[in-house]
Amino acid sequence: SIRACAQKSSSPALLRRSYSSESAPERKVAVLGAAGGIGQPLALLMKLNPLVSSLSLYDIAGTPGVAADVSHINTRSEVVGYMGDENLGKALEGADVVIIPAGVPRKPGMTRDDLFNINAGIVKALCEGIAKYCPHALVNIISNPVNSTVPIASEVFKKAGTYDEKRLFGVTTLDVVRAKTFYAGKAKVPVAGVNVPVVGGHAGVTILPLFSQATPQANNLSQEEIVALTKRTQDGGTEVVEAKAGKGSATLSMAYAGAIFADACLKGLNGVPDVVECSFVQSNVTELPFFASKVRLGKNGVEEVFGLGSLSDYEKQGLEALLPELKSSIEKGIKFANQS
Ligand code: NAD
Ligand code: LMR
Repeated sequence: SIRACAQKSSSPALLRRSYSSESAPERKVAVLGAAGGIGQPLALLMKLNPLVSSLSLYDIAGTPGVAADVSHINTRSEVVGYMGDENLGKALEGADVVIIPAGVPRKPGMTRDDLFNINAGIVKALCEGIAKYCPHALVNIISNPVNSTVPIASEVFKKAGTYDEKRLFGVTTLDVVRAKTFYAGKAKVPVAGVNVPVVGGHAGVTILPLFSQATPQANNLSQEEIVALTKRTQDGGTEVVEAKAGKGSATLSMAYAGAIFADACLKGLNGVPDVVECSFVQSNVTELPFFASKVRLGKNGVEEVFGLGSLSDYEKQGLEALLPELKSSIEKGIKFANQS
């Protein structure tokens, strides 16, 4: 297949004046799985991001149309669509950030782990491409099961000799987005000012929101309400899967979350100070090799992995309870990458 379209703005001088970040460096962002339910709105949101100068949209099918469509938006980035395996190299070459929402989504009744058989191979192949064509890119993995696909990526990069733990991220931002929304609703505080760390992993009980550290701290929530908020955050993905009734999982809220996380990566690369987001990264916070917690992003990717801070008794129990499942999901990913 073919390079679908390469269009620069027809009025660059006019547009340039409206950029808030006129001096922002050139940055190429690649989206792999760009024609999908997440990929399309994520492509739109990345096209709206003034930190992006080049937007590369890759999928096995459908990217010429998505790229042509998005490329007409009068913002900074040029947009190129790439379709098919043979164009993966061109899609990736020179990328600073690669976002991966490629793979199948859940249907009602499935767990994220039920996606492993299909998505593990997809993520492995795409990461082999990254190792070859843009080994220094920051890699944002959205494809589920994140608890296993991130370890798969790390093993692929290790085998290729390109692994840098500072540059590999499992995107758990949607858990934070949900925790903030649900907490603000219950505590009756304006959502724009709310922060809630979410740690652990990205599946069921491995998702552990730390409402004891939420800001602003609400004194009006009972323990029962904290338990209900925790469960709703852990089951947020399932809530959407059931509501979509067979037509997939979260796409719009995920695209929003993915765009927030990629923007944080770009800000870090550009030297903006104090950029902190939760992400599933290589970690010493627990005995597990990967764990989601707050990380500070900088010019090299992860600059600092923050510890958990003080936990309520309920959160301590949640942490103990999640470790076995998270451990086995990590090990499953590592085993897959090394046997296939
Ligand atoms: P989708 O089926 O709508 O889109 C997936 C896209 O990936 C399709 O366009 C497909 O052609 C493409 N694709 C498949 N194989 C590919 C390959 N080898 N290379 C490039 N592209 C390929 O699914 P979706 O709703 O966009 O979800 C995608 C993934 O994201 C799923 O695994 C889902 O579980 C996951 N997800 C993760 C989170 C999270 O919080 N991390 C949230 C929502 C969804
Ligand atoms: C989510 O949290 O929405 C995603 O992981 C998709 C899913 O399968 O729930």
